Amino acid sequence: MSKLRLEGKVAIITGAASGIGEAAAKLFAEHGAFVVIADIQDELGNQVVASIGPERASYRRCDVTNEKQVEETVAYAIEKYGKLDIMYSNAGIIGPLGSILDMDMSQFDKTIAVNLRGSATVVKHAARAMVANKIRGSIICTGSVASTVGGSGPHSYTVSKHGLLGLVHSAAYEFGKHGIRVNCVSPFGLATPMSTGAGCVDPKAIDAMNEKIANLKGIVLQTNHVAGVALFLASDESAYVSGHNLVVDGGVSVVTSILSTVKM
Ligand SMILES: NC(=O)c1ccc[n+]([C@@H]2O[C@H](COP(=O)([O-])OP(=O)(O)OC[C@H]3O[C@@H](n4cnc5c(N)ncnc54)[C@H](O)[C@@H]3O)[C@@H](O)[C@H]2O)c1
Repeated sequence: MSKLRLEGKVAIITGAASGIGEAAAKLFAEHGAFVVIADIQDELGNQVVASIGPERASYRRCDVTNEKQVEETVAYAIEKYGKLDIMYSNAGIIGPLGSILDMDMSQFDKTIAVNLRGSATVVKHAARAMVANKIRGSIICTGSVASTVGGSGPHSYTVSKHGLLGLVHSAAYEFGKHGIRVNCVSPFGLATPMSTGAGCVDPKAIDAMNEKIANLKGIVLQTNHVAGVALFLASDESAYVSGHNLVVDGGVSVVTSILSTVKM
């Protein structure tokens, strides 16, 4: 049996020029997939392609807030590689910090536009292609601890990631009859350009902070841990998994420390 878990599959990964998406693109390609790196950072996206090799990967500029670009990216993948098996909707922004009392509604709209509306657009066009071509595909979205818990991220980010989980549930319902699986992978905090403010903060400082607040000790979450879970959801190993929110958070979203001062 082949050890390649995505042999011959075709995947699009949004937000793959950096961070989690970049790690997933490399891992998917290592496992035999053809990968379209869809992002708005052209230079970085092309660097990811160069590191994988042009025979396995290609870059396509795709702003997920622009429906035409999303539709064209799906068409590009099908034209170049013949089909679309996997859509990993991973592009996201952290949005503004601050109180709801002072919320800048245009910034709120921007966060929703990328993280939620963008993902809905991506799911729409991926599923259209899969349904039309009778592909029993896998659609994955990157959620967050903030998909289920308040107080773990900025307000607009939390709202967008909760909404994203609703999108995953709804899409898993509609596309079940076509054999298309739709799942969410929800990481705890980790050092990527998003959390370091594109390098403004030392990634080691982010790792140290996350290690301190984490539930699971002795390990610091890295992009390859999240990519590995996305690989599972993309592959046939998760053949009966749909509508699931697979947390990669060391348990943080289901435990509380309220009894930590009480002897148990
Ligand atoms: N880093 C964390 O702590 C963390 C934790 C939980 C979830 N996440 C989620 O992981 C996903 C990936 O983030 P990351 O941490 O790898 O950060 P990142 O900044 O390294 O990657 C995000 C990518 O999305 C791209 N992007 C942003 N807006 C876009 C748009 N409109 N269209 C297309 N691409 C766009 C960026 O150019 C970037 O390459 C996001 O959805 C994020 O919310 C991150």
